[in-house]
Amino acid sequence: MTKKQYTVTAALPYANGPLHLGHVAGVYLPSDIFVRFLRMNDHDVAFICGSDEHGAAITLRAKKEGTTPKEIVDKYNGIISKAFKDFDISFDIFHRTSAPIHHETAQDFFKVLDEKGHFTKETSEQYYDEEYSQFLADRYITGDCPNCKHENAYGDQCENCGSALSPMDLINPKSTLSGKAPTIKSTSHWYLPMERHEEWLKEWIKEGKLDGVQQHDPSKWRNQVIGQCMSWIDSGLRPRAMTRDLDWGVKVPVEGGDGKVLYVWLDAPIGYISATKQWALDNNKNWEDYWTGDRKLVHFIGKDNIVFHAIIFPILLKAHEGLILPDNVPAYEFLNLEGDKFSTSRNWAVWLHEYIEAYPDKLDELKYVLTSIAPETKDSEFTWKEYQTRINSELADILGNFVNRALVLTQKYYNGVVPPVGEFTDYDHQVLEAMATIPAKISKLVYDYKLREAQAEAMNLARLGNKYLADMEPWKLMKDEANTERVQTIMNIAIQITANLSIVLQPFLPATASKLSEFLNFTSTNWQDAGLCELIEAGHQTNKPTILFPKIEDEQVEKEVGKLKSTEMEESSFDAQKEETTFDDFTKMDIRLGTILEAEKVKKADKLLKLLVDTGLDKRTIISGIAQHYSPEEVIGKTVTVLMNLAPRKIRGVESQGMILMAENEAGELSFVSPEKGFEAGCGVR
Ligand code: 2FM
Ligand code: ZN
Repeated sequence: MTKKQYTVTAALPYANGPLHLGHVAGVYLPSDIFVRFLRMNDHDVAFICGSDEHGAAITLRAKKEGTTPKEIVDKYNGIISKAFKDFDISFDIFHRTSAPIHHETAQDFFKVLDEKGHFTKETSEQYYDEEYSQFLADRYITGDCPNCKHENAYGDQCENCGSALSPMDLINPKSTLSGKAPTIKSTSHWYLPMERHEEWLKEWIKEGKLDGVQQHDPSKWRNQVIGQCMSWIDSGLRPRAMTRDLDWGVKVPVEGGDGKVLYVWLDAPIGYISATKQWALDNNKNWEDYWTGDRKLVHFIGKDNIVFHAIIFPILLKAHEGLILPDNVPAYEFLNLEGDKFSTSRNWAVWLHEYIEAYPDKLDELKYVLTSIAPETKDSEFTWKEYQTRINSELADILGNFVNRALVLTQKYYNGVVPPVGEFTDYDHQVLEAMATIPAKISKLVYDYKLREAQAEAMNLARLGNKYLADMEPWKLMKDEANTERVQTIMNIAIQITANLSIVLQPFLPATASKLSEFLNFTSTNWQDAGLCELIEAGHQTNKPTILFPKIEDEQVEKEVGKLKSTEMEESSFDAQKEETTFDDFTKMDIRLGTILEAEKVKKADKLLKLLVDTGLDKRTIISGIAQHYSPEEVIGKTVTVLMNLAPRKIRGVESQGMILMAENEAGELSFVSPEKGFEAGCGVR
């Protein structure tokens, strides 16, 4: 029987921020374990990921950081891909949706669907920000959720109650660009009439059948995935717009598409296909082999991505024709941190790249802890205290202790040479039989996507070994020469268990498994070897071990919890701090106090005032965009802050010789920055 072939994807992270432990525990680590296991079992696997570089998540971040979307995606793609590499997540490719091959692939995909009549074109009224001349889709608009009344629901989703929304559903809508209430304008878009697909989706999700043919085993799908999909379908699918009025993204490739891009949730999953294409090109393979035929497609995702991977993308794949649909969509719940949700905006997070930098030798420790608490069926929590406990009392006291004893005693008694076995006792037989059953148990759990239990089962082998040595106490037996043969048997068994550990730990703790291989001077990457009690022959030379898992001290826990609390920020809608600048650059700016002597409105420009300002050095004209906040009468006589040496600019035909500095609050209101001590025009500001 040929082995099943797999295409495994991990959700493409938005390139708008670094990865935190929640992302790792709920997508990247489990998919990596799954794939490592498949590879050891000789399945042909492609493991695909990349960064998701379009959509409002990116453009809004760029606005916040005062830079361009391109700079944002380059920066975070760099940070994210380095963190994955350092953490040894074994993707076959980590691609980018900004790559030309992705744009072509997504456009071709769109054209195929358009030609086959899978879209409808509809004109509708949409919210519009007059100040920014932009339509407000998805995350560009917030308001009160119509279902739970949560105040900051997005135009596409309420993060509080999880319901999917469209912008027109929001109560008291507000543009996230200008902060103002939007106006309404009409625009045309391509829609996916999802309601046409309800019938086959139901059968496919609940029974795993497509046109009556069994495609997948629904009993292997997580309850929450089926539950969420069915609740969507049962409440009636609606047409969903597949294009947006934006300039950042994949351009709509058909007539009438000018100024429009593909909806990010259309382009992103196609990113799995374009990444596969790039990988196939680089490795002399045929990408279609990974998306057609008798192959299992598995999407590892977080629960907020369920509808996109289990409903929308399958609709698109089926409509395209010839491509496989997912065999499973293992979705993870959320990981919390020290009693609260992970929050990028509050900096309440343990960032993967920072952990790696601080503890480059403790990567497997983190993997172990995150898999032990993985939010497979419900939300779970990471605390530094539990991190310490799991490392000290499980990794160090059980696995580390056993391996160290087995190898150190072999060094001490036999100079590292594996002794022969004598006669087995009943207890020896029991232990070896228990060992032989473990790999099959792990396999079943992995194929059922129960990776948390699978790792626990692998640790049971270390427990078995640790108990065996503790019960047998070879160090006591060794004192009497009559026990020579018995001790040899015990130590041989301990070495066989260690060799088994070097195999079964590979998917979960790859660095630790390699260390075991080095200590033992033995390597097998074949899962079928696991369970055998004669992996290493008598007479084989082993090496001296080192300590696998140094204990985690209380100070480290205190330091990390303290760091988290001290770097936590208030939830804020203010712009993030800009990039560092130098004192030299700062002193190039000539900033002084100036007093406004005259003010008048600029004709046909409702935002501008023309001011005459006494700067202490001269009297100059400055055009200022404050007319919607101050009347000319109000500003005369005010002493304000002036940037003097800004290059003069012509605004509406008048030369403006400098700039008035203003403070802006969250509502977008402006205020002068004036001296509180009555200082006069000309005083320098530094
Ligand atoms: O939720 C997210 O982070 C998305 N960037 C996931 C995209 S997965 C896929 F469809 F590309
Ligand atoms: Zn809600």
